[in-house]
Parts: sequence; C-alpha cells; structure tokens
Amino acid sequence: MSGKEHWDLLYRSKSDDELSWTQIEPVMSLNLIGEACSSGRVIDVGGGTSILAERLLDRGYTVAVADISEVALEHARNRLGAKASKILWIAADVSAGPSLGTFDVWHDRAVFHFLTASADRAAYRNLLAQTVPAGGHAVIGTFALDGPQKCSALEVQPYDGPMLAAELGPRFALLKSEPEIHVTPKGGRQSFQFSLFKRV
Ligand SMILES: C[S@@+](CC[C@H](N)C(=O)[O-])C[C@H]1O[C@@H](n2cnc3c(N)ncnc32)[C@H](O)[C@@H]1O
Repeated sequence: MSGKEHWDLLYRSKSDDELSWTQIEPVMSLNLIGEACSSGRVIDVGGGTSILAERLLDRGYTVAVADISEVALEHARNRLGAKASKILWIAADVSAGPSLGTFDVWHDRAVFHFLTASADRAAYRNLLAQTVPAGGHAVIGTFALDGPQKCSALEVQPYDGPMLAAELGPRFALLKSEPEIHVTPKGGRQSFQFSLFKRV
C-alpha cells in the first residue's frame, strides 16, 4: 500500500476522536508559531484534520495546509465550512519534491518522524529550505526519544532537538526545544518534542 493509500484509508475509516494524534487545542504549536512571528504566512505540513489551521486563521495568519491524504483535506474543509475558502489546501507528498510556494513559518506535527528512509528525509530537507526563505522559521514536533516506536502501524524515528537540527543541516539554526506529553483521545500518554528553527 502506498503512503497516500495508507493515510486515505485511515481518514476514511476513523473519526477524529479515534485518531491517536488528535488534539483539542494545539497550544504548543500556537505558542511556538507566535514566537516565530505574530502575522504572516504559515504552512501546516501534514496538517491532516488538525484544528491548527482554523486557530491560525482566527489569529490573522495567512494559512495553507498540505497533506498527502486528500481524504483528510476534504474532512478538514467540510468541518470548517465557509471558512475553508480562506485556507489554501495542497494535496502533496512532502517526500516527492512538490512545489509549495514560500512561507514565513513551516509547521509539522508528527510527519517528519515517519520519514525513516534517508532519501525521504533529504527530499523533506530540500523542500523545507525551498519553502522557507532566510529569516523564516520552522516548528517541528516529533515523537521524543522516550516516545512511541510506532504510529498507525508505521515505524517512526524519534528525535530530540539536536538530532533534528543535525538532520536539517546548517541552513536551520535550532532556537529552542520543548517537551510535550500528548494525551490521546483514549487517554494514552505520548512523549513529543517540539523544536523551533530559524532559517539562516
Ligand atoms: C500523525 S498525523 C498528524 C496530523 C496533524 N499534523 C496533527 O497534528 O493532527 C500525520 C499526517 O501526516 C500526513 N502525511 C504522512 N506522510 C506524509 C507525506 N509524505 N507528505 C505529506 N503528508 C504526509 C498524514 O496524512 C497525516 O495527516
């Protein structure tokens, strides 16, 4: 099964409260994006059906959501109703070299850790550098070193801030890393790290 088929099937067969990653409020993401800039263009990469895009829109940001799953994007659009037309929706695989345009902030919660092949991580790194010009920022949340080893039956690579910085290379300076315990809709606890980078 391809990556797209895997994610489309998941989003087709489960509601948001059956998906382990669903958050009620994306507090850490909003705080770190706010530290990066209080206005501007934000892309939520692998945004799925997250409420983050709506919260960003309400704060006055210009917002795009990119995801490999068209089903996820459709669910997110349906939930937003009329507001959906204010967001740019991009069906794209970040490991396949799409063109996303340019943004002040790149946000990724729980996508990069699925890229266990080095060629996919290299493609992501190049896309990130193309998408975020000098002075822009990236907020990347992944499972932490003491976090889960798998998600949705897929292997993951957990990170801490310095490991993530080493993956992104010298074009992105690590400004800070924060731990977060995500409580899943079923009450499980998952250890994440969120890192804020500046494009140099
Ligand atoms: C664990 S979910 C996280 C969703 C969202 N970021 C959140 O925090 O609620 C991972 C998301 O990444 C998307 N995804 C997985 N691989 C991807 C890829 N190669 N390119 C773009 N999106 C991808 C999936 O469709 C899914 O929506």
